Amino acid sequence: MDKKKEFKVAVAGYGHVGKDTVKTIIENSSIMENRTGIKLTVKTIFSRNIDKVQNDKFLDRVEIKTKDLNDILNDDDIDIVIEVLGGMDTAKELLMKIKKPVVTANKALLANCFGELIKDRKTDIAFEASVAGAIPIIKAMKESLVSDRMEGVYGILNGTCNYILTNMTKNNLDFNVVLKDAQEKGYAEADPTFDIDGIDTAHKLCILSSIAFCNVISFDKIFIRGIRNIILDDIVFASELGLTIKLIAEAALDENDNAYIYVIPTLLNDSNMLSKVDYAFNAITVVGDRSGDTVFYGSGAGGRPTSSAIVSDAITLARNSLITDELRVPILGFVNENKNIKVKDFKDKNETFYVRFKSNNNNLLAFNEAFYDINIEKSVERNGYFMYVLKDVSINSIIEAIEKVEKIEDIFIAKIK
Ligand SMILES: NC(=O)c1ccc[n+]([C@@H]2O[C@H](COP(=O)([O-])OP(=O)(O)OC[C@H]3O[C@@H](n4cnc5c(N)ncnc54)[C@H](OP(=O)(O)O)[C@@H]3O)[C@@H](O)[C@H]2O)c1
Repeated sequence: MDKKKEFKVAVAGYGHVGKDTVKTIIENSSIMENRTGIKLTVKTIFSRNIDKVQNDKFLDRVEIKTKDLNDILNDDDIDIVIEVLGGMDTAKELLMKIKKPVVTANKALLANCFGELIKDRKTDIAFEASVAGAIPIIKAMKESLVSDRMEGVYGILNGTCNYILTNMTKNNLDFNVVLKDAQEKGYAEADPTFDIDGIDTAHKLCILSSIAFCNVISFDKIFIRGIRNIILDDIVFASELGLTIKLIAEAALDENDNAYIYVIPTLLNDSNMLSKVDYAFNAITVVGDRSGDTVFYGSGAGGRPTSSAIVSDAITLARNSLITDELRVPILGFVNENKNIKVKDFKDKNETFYVRFKSNNNNLLAFNEAFYDINIEKSVERNGYFMYVLKDVSINSIIEAIEKVEKIEDIFIAKIK
C-alpha cells in the first residue's frame, strides 16, 4: 500500500504566529515536499478575528474559515492540528479534546498542564516553537543528545528582557526608558509582566528541564526573579567587574540527582558565550556528560522564525503517523520517568551573588557586621545604594542577614556565574 503523502492541517489562531504559519506552509510547500515527500495543506483556520482579516491572499486559499472550534474537533478529514491561540482556556480545551496529533507553541499551557496533557494521551503533541522560537533545541535535546546524562541546561530565553538589558548596557539607559522603547518597537507587550518578571522564561525552563531530567517538572517548583527592579547602577557595577548581566534560566543537576531550577539575573564572564547574545536573540547551553557544553543560538520569537519550528513539527507529526507507536520519540523524550530527581529550593543553594539595596537608616558598616559569617568579596556604597559581592552563600542567608538590621522590600539579587 502506498504511504500517505498529503496531510490536511487545521490552524487554530490567526494572529502573529498563525498568519506566518499558514504563509510558510503555502509558500514553502515545494521545498518541504522535495525534502520529505510530504505535502501539507491548510484546510481550516479557526480564530475569533477571522472576519476582520482583509486583503489576505493566503486566507483566500484556505477552504474553511471559522469561529466554531467544533469545525476542527469534529472534522475527520483533518490530519494535524496547529494550536497558536495562546491563553489557557480554549487552547487547553482543544488539546484535551482533539484526537489528532497536535503542534502547539503555547509554553504557558504546557508548563502549567504538562502532566494533565500527556497522561493517557493517545496522540502526539509537538512543541518546538514553545521554547526559543526557531532554535531546534527540543529536537536536539530529545533526539540528538539521547545518550547523555544532561547535567544542566541554561540560557537566555526571553527576547524582551534581553533587548532591555542589552540596551541598558550598550546605551547607558534606565530600565523604564528602555522598556518604553521596547513597547513602542513591539518587543514588549503593553502589559510586560510575564516577560520582565521572568514568568515567560520560567515557562520555557519548565519545558526544557522536564526533557533534560526525564521528569515532569512542576512549574511551582521553579524559583523566579525577573529584571523589574534592575537599575543602571547594577549594569555599571557589573561592567566594572568585567561582567555582563543577562536574565538566565538555569536547571542544574548534581551527582545525587538534586535539581535546582531557577530564573535569575546573572552576571556572566566575557568567556561565557551567552554574554555575547544581544538584543532579541536567544541562546541555550546544554551540558551533557558526554557531549560537554553545546550552545544553540538564534531568533527566539517573531511570527516568521516561530513558524519555521511549527511547520517542522507538523512534518514530524506527519512522518510519525506513518510509523508504529514504538518508533515515535515520546512527547517529552522519555519512556520512563527518572523518579530519583528531587527539585530543591534554589534559595538554599550556595552560590556567589551580587546584592544591591537601599537602607533607610543604617550605614554600610551595620550590614558588613550582619554579614560577619558570610564571605564578602566586595562592598561598595554608591548613589545611596549598598552593593555587595557575597561568596558561597544562599539567598535565604543573605535575606536573613539583611533583615537582622532592617526589613527591606526592594533587594536586587543576581547570581555571578
Ligand atoms: N509571537 C511570538 O513571537 C511567539 C513565539 C513563540 C511562541 N508564541 C506563542 O504562540 C501563541 C500565539 O502567539 P501570537 O503572538 O500569534 O498571539 P496573537 O497574535 O495574539 O494571536 C492569537 C490569535 O488567536 C486568536 N484567539 C485567541 N484566543 C482565542 C479564542 N479563545 N478563540 C478564538 N480565537 C482566539 C486571536 O484573536 P484576537 O486577535 O481577536 O485576540 C489571535 O488572532 C502563544 O501561545 C504564544 O505564547 C508566540
